[in-house]
Amino acid sequence: MAFHFASLLLLALPVFTRAQSPVWGQCGGLGWTGPTTCVSGSVCTRSNDWYSQCLPGNQPPPPSTTIPPPADPPITTTSTPPPPTSLPTGAPPPPIPFCATIPGNITYSNTRLPDPFLPIGGGTRVSTKGQWECRRREISELFQRYELGVVPPKPSSVTASFSGGTLSITVANGGPSISFSVSITAPSTGTAPFPAIIAYGAPSIPVPNSVAVIRFNNDDIAVQQNTGSRGSGKFYTLYGNNHSAGALAAWAWGVSRIVDALEITPSARIDTTRLAVTGCSRNGKGAIVAGAFEPRIALTIPQESGSGGSACWRLSDYQKSQGQNVQTASQIITENVWFSKNFDTFTSQVSRLSVDHHLLPGLIVPRGLLVIENTSQEWLGALSSYQCQRVGRRIYEAYGVPNNMGVSQVGNHNHCAFPSSQQAELTAFFNKFLLGQGSTNTSIVRTDGSFNFPETQFIDWTTPTLA
Ligand SMILES: *[C@@H]1O[C@H](CO)[C@@H](O)[C@H](O)[C@H]1NC(C)=O
Ligand SMILES: *[C@@H]1O[C@H](CO)[C@@H](O)[C@H](O)[C@H]1NC(C)=O
Ligand SMILES: *[C@@H]1O[C@H](CO)[C@@H](O)[C@H](O)[C@H]1NC(C)=O
Ligand SMILES: *[C@@H]1O[C@H](CO)[C@@H](O)[C@H](O)[C@H]1NC(C)=O
Repeated sequence: MAFHFASLLLLALPVFTRAQSPVWGQCGGLGWTGPTTCVSGSVCTRSNDWYSQCLPGNQPPPPSTTIPPPADPPITTTSTPPPPTSLPTGAPPPPIPFCATIPGNITYSNTRLPDPFLPIGGGTRVSTKGQWECRRREISELFQRYELGVVPPKPSSVTASFSGGTLSITVANGGPSISFSVSITAPSTGTAPFPAIIAYGAPSIPVPNSVAVIRFNNDDIAVQQNTGSRGSGKFYTLYGNNHSAGALAAWAWGVSRIVDALEITPSARIDTTRLAVTGCSRNGKGAIVAGAFEPRIALTIPQESGSGGSACWRLSDYQKSQGQNVQTASQIITENVWFSKNFDTFTSQVSRLSVDHHLLPGLIVPRGLLVIENTSQEWLGALSSYQCQRVGRRIYEAYGVPNNMGVSQVGNHNHCAFPSSQQAELTAFFNKFLLGQGSTNTSIVRTDGSFNFPETQFIDWTTPTLA
């Protein structure tokens, strides 16, 4: 035994003497010929087929190739879990009396980005902020039906306790209960209750020292390993897995439960009227969806969320048609379980989708939204992300608050490494939406890329001024 172990170590040694990637550096991906190990203190983490990178963390390094990796854990537990409560059907937001009923069976076809202001049942375009609430509810339901799956409303029981920097949350909905916890790091300055940022994983943007950091282990709620992890995670213990909610929907639900818990736990010393949410890459997709579905989030900061986050499905398909290696809807569903199974029927023909991601800001308006992107790395869909969110910002313009949404795209940095040239913009959004400096200038739409975007091919509508 000891002999075998020693020889394995000897065999493994050369692996560790090869050049290692720095924190935030690339460490794998199709076509990657550079180092596949990371400097100590960081872990090589797969983002997608084209990109793995060294993320800060204290987990042990991945096993060397000379030691066979352990078999994948089974996705379902061997003991039969208690029967989950069934997911609610229909529109999660409460019906608004003056809103028209959303048709049950929608046949839609549009190669352009759907008009944000045209109700799905046809009729008059939205012209007031009151009517926008009906359209907001409609967009929310369409995203849930056809792409994300149901984001369930608040369950019947949410309890919480706070001790030693850990907020423990227990949730039940008449059936089994689940518990999960988040860590809260109090800020070094300021007076309680503190503003806070909920970070999927850990923040990869600089957080002001007067803002608390809440770390959300989203993978605990819904696993995002590969297509085999569908239905794995605490969300599915509670609600079952009938392939309705994908991971993005499950995580958004989790963020809402964190806010519920903060509201009933004053000892956590967090001001729930001043909450932000952030995440990068796959977790950036999570952050923008959480901001879209949780109105108690004052500021949403998706970072390099790309395809499935800031990018539009239609624009990514366009990029692909231009010969670029962008991640499209039909590719992304072969990678992971971020979306509902219901999305699968649309991915080879995204023109049939009655929503696209320029409508996500329409669920967030007028709350703060800063979309941070990189310029290159094709799978992020640089053109798609930037143009999609520029179009989405027209909803903020219509609402009369264009500067509550910023779009900033800067290249020449590693994935999820925050460039200092975006610092002033980030600071401005924190100041305005979390730190009470309402008059801060947040007029930000910029890219250091240059794109040849055939706008009229994708937009056939004008932007109204909502009364
Ligand atoms: C799955 O959940 C959805 C959303 O609540 C519901 O509409 C549907 O009936 C469920 N399907 C099954 C087979 O339970
Ligand atoms: C929806 O409409 C299509 C086309 O008209 C029809 O084939 C289908 O049966 C309808 N589905 C439901 C659930 O009504
Ligand atoms: C970021 O953009 C630069 C080009 O501006 C590119 O070289 C780099 O690979 C990109 N990184 C990622 C991870 O997108
Ligand atoms: C706000 O900032 C933008 C971008 O830096 C700048 O162009 C604009 O002039 C500023 N507006 C005011 C009122 O200072």
